[in-house]
Amino acid sequence: MLVRRCVTLGLTKGWSRPFSSTLMWKAPRVTKDQERAKKRYEEMLASPYRLIRWGAVVRSEEFSKGMTKWLIVAYIAFLVYGVDFMKKLYAKDKELEKLLEKPNKNEWETLRVKELQGKLRTRDVSKLKQYAALKEEQPDLENFDGIVLENNDENKLNEMILPARDTTDFYEHKADEYDKSISFEERMIGLGKRRKWVMKHCHGDVLEVSCGTGRNIKYLNPEKINSITFLDSSEKMVEITEKKFKDKFGFFKKVAFVVGYAENLVDLAKTNNKGKEGEDIRVKYDTIVETFGLCSHEDPVKALNNFVTLLKPGGRIILLEHGRGTYDFINKILDRRAEKRLATWGCRWNLDLGEILDDSDLEIVEEKRVHLGTTWCIVAKRKGDVKKKEEIAFMEKYVGSTLKSKLESSQSNIK
Ligand SMILES: C[S@@+](CC[C@H](N)C(=O)[O-])C[C@H]1O[C@@H](n2cnc3c(N)ncnc32)[C@H](O)[C@@H]1O
Repeated sequence: MLVRRCVTLGLTKGWSRPFSSTLMWKAPRVTKDQERAKKRYEEMLASPYRLIRWGAVVRSEEFSKGMTKWLIVAYIAFLVYGVDFMKKLYAKDKELEKLLEKPNKNEWETLRVKELQGKLRTRDVSKLKQYAALKEEQPDLENFDGIVLENNDENKLNEMILPARDTTDFYEHKADEYDKSISFEERMIGLGKRRKWVMKHCHGDVLEVSCGTGRNIKYLNPEKINSITFLDSSEKMVEITEKKFKDKFGFFKKVAFVVGYAENLVDLAKTNNKGKEGEDIRVKYDTIVETFGLCSHEDPVKALNNFVTLLKPGGRIILLEHGRGTYDFINKILDRRAEKRLATWGCRWNLDLGEILDDSDLEIVEEKRVHLGTTWCIVAKRKGDVKKKEEIAFMEKYVGSTLKSKLESSQSNIK
């Protein structure tokens, strides 16, 4: 092998020399390479271009030695931070577990549970601030038992959030131009993707509340559903939906189009075919969806509670709504333009949806907010219904100490 390499390099004469002399012979070549590299390095350092100068520094041996040191330091810092993070996470989880087990929680404890679960609403945040101030005033206070603070509901106290109203007439007049005027705004913020997300949940018997002009129809997969009912308080809106549906899915016969209020849903469901009110609810649903409807309802909490009543066990409510965002600056913009929005689109776009959801009987399974927190994507269920296996989040599943109960609930779901 050594002989062959020497032949290739034209060194056959010297192959029989002692090994040390071969090394000595090679040495000047290395020096030449080094010299060339040094020259190139100096040239690069003298370059008028900053990027080339930086390149030279980055490629230097000194830099890579320094870098290695920094990488080791960063790695240690990362480890220390990681351990600290996991410790805090564990402590929080233990605290949450203890609080969840406590039978009669005081208000502060209930808020703390929400804080630990990352579910605080605007009014909760301000209440927690008040509790902290109280503790500062009275450091001897052992706990907050018996203390209940006044509710500072954003939706009631913020004057920029306009009072609720019946918007049916508004939409009756808007129906014909609705699609044309809203399309551009929706395309700009990629709402199609969100509507698709809503409709992918539809299965079994489906109810779409506040269907408007049927903008979600194109994302519906009729193979996954048994029946579908569209409801809106505006007759014209329902007519447009009906036409759209029949044009696209004319073959699908288990469909109903209803003019009515979300707030009257339960009564509507009790009414029989002859229009007479019956005793029992005749129909219940596997999936109830609503997109951008809560902002235009007179009583959004009542509407949500009706959804819960009409939901089959294990059913899901899917909401795509807009409301207050995550940041103050965006909420100020929404507040400032609230009247104009109402006049143009008939909706209250600065509502605190979190408070409305919390005031209702539904239980949130998934809450995702996009567009600076102003677009709310919600999956909800009836209180007490178990979560499905796929609905248990990774952290909840693998980090939370409540794992056992989560697994138990998913097991019972499988049965
Ligand atoms: C902003 S539009 C949304 C329409 C449609 N869901 C969409 O995503 O494009 C609001 C719709 O809610 C309807 N609406 C308003 N108040 C209602 C109520 N109390 N019950 C049922 N529908 C209502 C209006 O007629 C209108 O069609």
